[in-house]
Amino acid sequence: MRTPLIAGNWKMNGSLALVDSFARAFAERGIPATVEAALMLPAPYLYAARQAFAELPVALGGQTLYHQTSGAFTGEVSASMLGDCGARYVLVGHSERRELFGEDDAEVLARVKAALAAELTPVLCVGETLEERDAGRTEAVVLGQLAAVFDALAADERSRVVVAYEPVWAIGTGRTATPEQAQQVHAALRAHLATYDPTLAEGLRLLYGGSMKAANAAELLAQPDIDGGLVGGASLQVDDFLAICQSAG
Ligand code: G3P
Repeated sequence: MRTPLIAGNWKMNGSLALVDSFARAFAERGIPATVEAALMLPAPYLYAARQAFAELPVALGGQTLYHQTSGAFTGEVSASMLGDCGARYVLVGHSERRELFGEDDAEVLARVKAALAAELTPVLCVGETLEERDAGRTEAVVLGQLAAVFDALAADERSRVVVAYEPVWAIGTGRTATPEQAQQVHAALRAHLATYDPTLAEGLRLLYGGSMKAANAAELLAQPDIDGGLVGGASLQVDDFLAICQSAG
């Protein structure tokens, strides 16, 4: 049984005031006990969120990390620094990082390894562009991104990873993948994971991200191989985020 995970990715948005307002709303309205909720926050807000959410069933995560543990890397954040500030998760390989900051598969692997070494749970993001989908290359691209990391991990490392399928053409566009489109890719991901170990495939959580909203979450989360969501815009509105958590419960 895979516990549904609803993870909000605030991206470069939010404020300390928003952290506090989310904490109040979570305390007042609660989160379904059958769902794991997480917020991937901008690094400056993590420590405050650790305090604000201390008594709440909400996990915290970072949105990126550098692959080195420390040193002369001005501006970068290490896995252990994220952990010090209360993070249990960290996004790795988000399409915006791949596109805007040139993170290739090798860099993504290094960052997954760094997260695991610091006892964080990496959320490995994979996804195709519209051009790649239109060219019929969706599974080749997505499974290639998955294999670039999983081929290089040890068996005990693989089971500690969460994977998020985020079609690039659905991110921030309001053009959500249909439940059938998403399920097809998730099934392909799980089938590839089974080539390493059927037990791994059965236990690993596959999240969908890309314009998941309160209105469409239930039909996406009803798919057999969709184990949760990685939510951008809708995670900045606590009502919407809680509605999506309810849909997963
Ligand atoms: O990481 C989640 C994000 O990429 C999805 O964004 O706004 O389409 O939900 P959004």
